[in-house]
Formats: sequence, C-alpha cells, structure tokens
Amino acid sequence: MIILGIETSCDETAAAVIKDGTKILSNVVATSAEMHTKTGGIIPEQAARQQVKAIIPVMSEAISEALAIKPSNHASGGQMVKWLNGQIVKNLDAIAVTVGPGLIGSLLVGVETAKTLACLWNKPIVPVNHLAAHIYANFIRKIPNSKFQIPNKSPELPALCLVVSGGHTDLVLMKKHGKLKWIGGTRDDAAGEAFDKTARLLGLPYPGGPAISAEAEKYLTTRNSQLTLLPRPMIKEDNYDWSFSGLKTSVMRRVKEQESKRVKEKLSISQLSAEIQEAIVDVLVAKTLRAAKKYKPKSTLLAGGVAANNRLREKFQKQINELTNQRINFFVPPPNLCTDNAAYIASYAYFNYNPVDWKKINANPGLTIVGEV
Ligand code: KG4
Ligand code: ZN
Repeated sequence: MIILGIETSCDETAAAVIKDGTKILSNVVATSAEMHTKTGGIIPEQAARQQVKAIIPVMSEAISEALAIKPSNHASGGQMVKWLNGQIVKNLDAIAVTVGPGLIGSLLVGVETAKTLACLWNKPIVPVNHLAAHIYANFIRKIPNSKFQIPNKSPELPALCLVVSGGHTDLVLMKKHGKLKWIGGTRDDAAGEAFDKTARLLGLPYPGGPAISAEAEKYLTTRNSQLTLLPRPMIKEDNYDWSFSGLKTSVMRRVKEQESKRVKEKLSISQLSAEIQEAIVDVLVAKTLRAAKKYKPKSTLLAGGVAANNRLREKFQKQINELTNQRINFFVPPPNLCTDNAAYIASYAYFNYNPVDWKKINANPGLTIVGEV
C-alpha cells in the first residue's frame, strides 16, 4: 500500500510517500525555522503564510521523487492538468494528513490541501494524530541513502513510548496499534520547550535544542566533569511525570548572577548548555526507566524532536543495557526522522488505517496524544 503523508502542524511543510508503512520512497521537508531564528521563536501567522507557499512544491517534489517523474514537468500546463486530474498519482492508495495538535493556521494548510486532493483524486483520506504518529518513525525500516543503521526487526508490542517534542512530553504504553494508554507527562513546560526557552536565556538561536546540544558537545569533548549544577525536579517521585518550568528559573537566576558578577566562577555558555542538557536528559531517562521496570514492555521507543539529542540517545541506551534482570529492546529513529516530517505521518496511517469521508475531517489544534482523530 502506498500512502502520501502531509504534515504542516508547526513550522515545517512536509510531504512523504511511504510503502507499506515501513519503506520511504520520498521524504521532503521545507522549514521556515531560519525565519523564526531571526525573531527568536515561531510567529504562527508567518509560519502559515510560508506553508501556503511551500505546500504544492513540496508535495510535487515528494510525489515526483517517489514515482520517478521529473519534477520540472509539473510546472508545465499539460503535466499540471495530468497531476490535478490524478493521472500522475494513480499508484497512490491513500492520503494521510496531520489534523492536530498544532497551530491552527498551519494545520489548516495541510488539512485543506489533503481534503481537496482526496476529493479531486477520489482517494481515501486518513486523519492523523501528530503526537501518536511521532512514535511510528520507529517503524520505518528502509530509508534510501541513509547513513544510519536501522535494525531489521520492528519494535515488538507492548511498547513503552516516550514522545518528547517542542510542545509535548508524554509517556504512553502502546499495547497494540491504535491502543495507547497515557501513563505520564509534563505538568508544565515540555522538554523541547525547556531547551528552547533556556537557549534563549543563554542568547542561543531558535530552535534551542540543536543549539544547546552543539554548545554542550564542545564542553563535553574537552571535560569530563560532573554536571550537577541544576535541579532534577520530581526525579525521585513515584510517578511518571515531569516538571521543566523550574529549570528555566534556575538558569535565569544563574545568568543574572553571572551578569552581576555575584558568582565567583563564571561558567561558559558551553558549560551552562551541558548542565541544561544533562538535567533534562537525566529526568527523562530516570522516569522512563522507572516506568519500564513497572510495565515490563517488550520494547522502549523514543520519539519526537528532542529524541534527536545525542546525549539523550546515548544515556538511554546505556542505562537500558544496565537494567540487569530485564531484556528491553530500545529503539530510537534516525535523528532526521525524529524532528517533524511526513514519513511517520504516512506510516501511522498504514498501521492505523481508518479512512474518513473528507467532509468529516477537521483540524484539531488541542488534540492530545490519546485523543480521537
Ligand atoms: O517534534 P518536533 O520536531 O516538533 C514538534 O512537534 O514540536 O520537536 C521540536 C523540538 C524543539 O523544541 C527543538 O528544540 C527540539 O525538538 N530539538 C532538540 C534537538 N533537535 C530538535 N532538542 C534537543 N536536542 C536536539 N538535537
Ligand atoms: Zn512533532
């Protein structure tokens, strides 16, 4: 089954064509992140305007690449007619589109485009929950030209899944496809938000996660010191929840103290970045492993933009290996499939195939990870 995935929930415009939920035929992502770097964060209306411009070229590129058609042909009138009346896409079996959560203006670009094409091409359309879909980056087995080693085996269920993105931090147990049980999450800021907000305090660009990670790397390659400056909220509590807003306050206090020269030792941006990263990583790993010990899943899966973080990936792998009496297979997608893209949107649609009449599909900005699409 060949599915075209469309994703526009935040500042990316993405389209991908996936075979049988596991094989990438094409995966195209256009991002307006550079524009938001200048403003220090996303301006929703500007993100949506960029997506309106990008959606057709991005889809056209994804379809052309997957079906081996020269992309330039789409620009010509005759080819465009073939494209619009569905001749070019006759091999596509369905369209999958993110309906939420996300920014309403951004979601509408993808949702309305997908509905129009489903109606025009007479194809089934599958509404997709963006958060639950992140998990499916772990089910993709074949990626053309990828340097990343992907295990042959797919994750076995039940799987414990930690989804860490810019706006959400959720821990769920996936008993089978389409059956998620929420077992914990953040009580305030999301893990990605903690990276983004503390990066801003350090004067680092948006998005903060990759910026902090790069700075931390500089520090970690030269030193091997304990990173214990910042608090690890709720780490010992007997639950599976997190709180990240206090981290922001601690970092703000430290930065102000350094500026007013009230501290003896002024830490570099790289060291502060390493401290922030370590504090976030430590609590994510500790609470997820606590859940793994209790629920004894067959696999533990990491997903979402923050899962691209090297330190998080390494610490997870190391500590899971150290769990002596339990064999848990740990999965984390290649970094470029962790951040927003449409490959996992199409994969989710394959494993949770539930097409809906296009007239009944609506954007749902406040959808939760266990919410019905
Ligand atoms: O899943 P995602 O691409 O978009 C949302 O659905 O929100 O996640 C974006 C988040 C941002 O907060 C970004 O700073 C963070 O993922 N992120 C990272 C890294 N790459 C992206 N955080 C830490 N380390 C990274 N390497
Ligand atoms: Zn996302």
